[in-house]
Amino acid sequence: MELIVCKTYEEVSQVSAKVVAEVMKAKPNAVLGLATGSTPEGMYAELVKMNKAGEIDFSDITTVNLDEYYPISPENDQSYRYFMNKNLFDHVNIDKSRTNVPNGAAPDGEAEAKRYEAFVRSLGGADIQVLGIGRNGHIAFNEPDEELVPETHVTGLTEDTIDANARFFASAADVPTKALTMGMGTILSAKKIIIIATGAGKHAALSQLLKGTVTTKCPASFLNLHNNVVVVCDEAAYNG
Ligand code: PGA
Repeated sequence: MELIVCKTYEEVSQVSAKVVAEVMKAKPNAVLGLATGSTPEGMYAELVKMNKAGEIDFSDITTVNLDEYYPISPENDQSYRYFMNKNLFDHVNIDKSRTNVPNGAAPDGEAEAKRYEAFVRSLGGADIQVLGIGRNGHIAFNEPDEELVPETHVTGLTEDTIDANARFFASAADVPTKALTMGMGTILSAKKIIIIATGAGKHAALSQLLKGTVTTKCPASFLNLHNNVVVVCDEAAYNG
């Protein structure tokens, strides 16, 4: 596992964008696994800048996002589809038909989870998967539990996650209580993984990951089973 500790959020964003850009340059038709959340917003802004400057090309890129609330309309401004359009897809030369987010409006969530899993597998997994990390160590909506699920599935959200996301909705009661999420195996099928953590609130989860052991109490710790992981964090997340 490679660890890069940065001084500022801006530096984290630039370094992370560079890691993703390297994959795109090496493989113009790469499959990018993408994540939502406040942490990667700066990285997406950097990727938009690089695209506008002609340094990276999205025309042959395919994307697969980690997760989506369920149920939610893709037009809802809190949906992860909306987030991706707003933060990246609307600003780069990507073919929108090759951008994939689990469909929060699918009538049958379980069937959508199966379809999405098969789709990601049919692509051979992501060439690089971008991840954030929850304060409780979750990755995507794989929350700490006795058991973790390998494949894309429908899951209930924990109180902590509903709480953390409540700031984006009118009230905690408006946050969807379920999500469609890639499973641990789906995520680990990526050829390379970059996990980004900023702020002291992520220190405990990051420390658990960097400890090097594996526990279902910290789903992110499973990245220790993967042989091509880059951790990019700021000093606050690293030192607490
Ligand atoms: P955040 O979310 O980037 O908004 O902190 C990360 C996550 O929960 O995975």
